[in-house]
Amino acid sequence: MKYTFPEAFKIGATGAAWQMEGEADKLPHQKHFPHLMWENDKERWFGEVGPDVACDLYHHYREDIAMFARAGIRQYRFNIDWSRFIDDYEAVTVNEAAAQYYSDVIDCLMENGIEPVLCLEHWELPAYLYEKYDGYATRIVVDKFVQYAREAFLRYGDRVKMWFTFNEPVVIPQLCFQDGFWWPNEKNPARAYRWMHGKVMATAKVIKLFREMKMEGEIGVILNASHVIPRDENDPGDCYAAEVARAFYWGNFLDPAVKGCYPELYLDILGKEGLMFDFTQEDKALLRENTVDILGVNYYQPMRVMAKETPWDDSQPFCPGKYFDNYDMPGKRMNPFRGWEIYPKCLYDIGMRIKNEYGNVKWLVSESGMGVQNEGIYRDESGIIQDDYRIDFISEHLAWLSKAVSEGCNCHGYWLFASIDNCSPYNAFKNRYGLVEVDIEDGFKRRLKKSAAFYKALSDSNTFEYKENL
Ligand code: BG6
Repeated sequence: MKYTFPEAFKIGATGAAWQMEGEADKLPHQKHFPHLMWENDKERWFGEVGPDVACDLYHHYREDIAMFARAGIRQYRFNIDWSRFIDDYEAVTVNEAAAQYYSDVIDCLMENGIEPVLCLEHWELPAYLYEKYDGYATRIVVDKFVQYAREAFLRYGDRVKMWFTFNEPVVIPQLCFQDGFWWPNEKNPARAYRWMHGKVMATAKVIKLFREMKMEGEIGVILNASHVIPRDENDPGDCYAAEVARAFYWGNFLDPAVKGCYPELYLDILGKEGLMFDFTQEDKALLRENTVDILGVNYYQPMRVMAKETPWDDSQPFCPGKYFDNYDMPGKRMNPFRGWEIYPKCLYDIGMRIKNEYGNVKWLVSESGMGVQNEGIYRDESGIIQDDYRIDFISEHLAWLSKAVSEGCNCHGYWLFASIDNCSPYNAFKNRYGLVEVDIEDGFKRRLKKSAAFYKALSDSNTFEYKENL
């Protein structure tokens, strides 16, 4: 069965500064938050490998971008490493060598026929701002982020017409400060919700600035779609569980970004739990008046929940799991390497939810992908990794997305995670995601995988084949 996307629909890919660039040419104090996570918790990072070298895109970007073009990438979302671009975090002064580097990357993308899309933060909060001010928990840092955004707009606004403030702003506060899974392994919900609010306000303030500066183009934020599915859609307890999960893992950033206010349920629960952050009248007005032009949605797996059945111990710090349990659905299809469910229909459901409940705001799939361990075993005689599983994964997701587009959802693109193999948080190079292989055992040599040819044919025609007629 042949599927076709409209001409304006762009096939692209994505990558994060801290996961790809490496930290060459940075000044000793120019560390970012993921560097702290790695430095302080090295033994938990796969092979103790981390962001210091990553895949060394910093030195390879010309060769890599030429390969991205050969893999059919038409739009490329990457981000500036805030901790590299700025060198005095109090005065917010630009590091000229870093500014030149990002300018060269943008030019190189354009010379290769790839539209550059810039995101301002994929967790690279400067370590200095974390240590001195507790990051986004304080308004000083929110304002410094806005000043940094201004410098980036001035330098690159002539060539970049699509901007995003954050990639997955929920992840660091949730995993580092609420759940304690990642360094500094805290269970301090008050801190986590102050951070999240700081990032919500930072997005609104940067959008306001973008419009005041009369920047050409569009601006938004990239969120991870915790698309929440109740165990039983007809069970009120399961449905309430899903509503809470949705409010805490998706609505708390999505609603302010698109509707200009938080979900009531989120504020009610935080109030009841004594965790309400400082939320002023001025904040409320800023949110109302500065919603996004465009939304990035990262989708990997759904979140399945059910009514709370396990006991909750009130002496433990709050987490949203007080109100629901995760539902381990029997028979679900898994990516065994990453331990994530594979459920492509979710892209259709997300599209319909955005269409029906979020004013059909313009959006795109800003990350989707499949991380696979030991990909070397799929290499053929000519040395090329035969990643047919990735081709199937992409086709199946695109088929559901195409159905959503044909039913009127306002989705304008699909960006694969990732352009190139790179360093994951904690898993480092264990699971590989790229269209381009990085052979870390052989001098970081790059090779296109089989999926790159598939991706090129897809993006040249906006057409692909998938076995089922959905
Ligand atoms: C997304 C992040 O949530 O998932 C990426 O934006 C990350 O930074 C990706 O790499 C895949 O997850 P992981 O943990 O397998 O790298």
